Amino acid sequence: MSIKIAPSILSADFTCLGEQAKEAIRAGADLLHVDVMDGHFVPNLTFGPLVVAALKPICSDAKIPLDVHLMVEKPEALISSFASAGSDTIIVHVETCPHLHRTLQQIRELGVKAGVTLNPSTPLVSLEEILGVVDQVLVMSVNPGFGGQKYLPASTEKIHRLSQMLKQRHLDHVEIEVDGGIYPGNAREVVTAGATILVAGSTVFNAQASIAENISALRRAVEL
Ligand code: DX5
Ligand code: ZN
Repeated sequence: MSIKIAPSILSADFTCLGEQAKEAIRAGADLLHVDVMDGHFVPNLTFGPLVVAALKPICSDAKIPLDVHLMVEKPEALISSFASAGSDTIIVHVETCPHLHRTLQQIRELGVKAGVTLNPSTPLVSLEEILGVVDQVLVMSVNPGFGGQKYLPASTEKIHRLSQMLKQRHLDHVEIEVDGGIYPGNAREVVTAGATILVAGSTVFNAQASIAENISALRRAVEL
């Protein structure tokens, strides 16, 4: 599977969000990652379906998917709004879904790819029964809620074990996404462990270099 880079708009300059998204896409972003936070499941509050709908034409023009990460309690109540807004993938947290199988089906029935994610403290065993009904598994490599945190090193081994679990079940088509603290210095390590989608927020949208230079640096790190 080719390695995809998913800039997280959480670290973008919101005064010119559309321009920042276009710049990331021109620089080769493969997906656009939208971090939805509700101030309950995580201690931060961010975007709603209106922002997804605003970004949709930009992503459709460039034919890249909108990857929507729901860090919210009771995500099932919001899924249809985020699907109508144009999400291509909706990712829910295992910690927020008592009826995870039903929630994943709900996403797929709306014609949207279903993703599941888990916090650093949540064991992979919590996914065992639903791996057959997901398109993507996102491994949180920081505690969710904020951009710019440091990568938790134990995540690499977790990605490796998840990759083995998927292989054993002949589910190699399921994408493994990693989210939190990704930068050129650890990108190769997570890809070697099995990650196929790299989310990067502060690495892509920072003032040290241009968005294009930052995406190129990540790309070079995994293609070495
Ligand atoms: C964290 C979010 C991430 C975040 C990553 O709760 O899910 O997507 O934007 O930001 P960086 O890449 O800065 O760690
Ligand atoms: Zn995210």
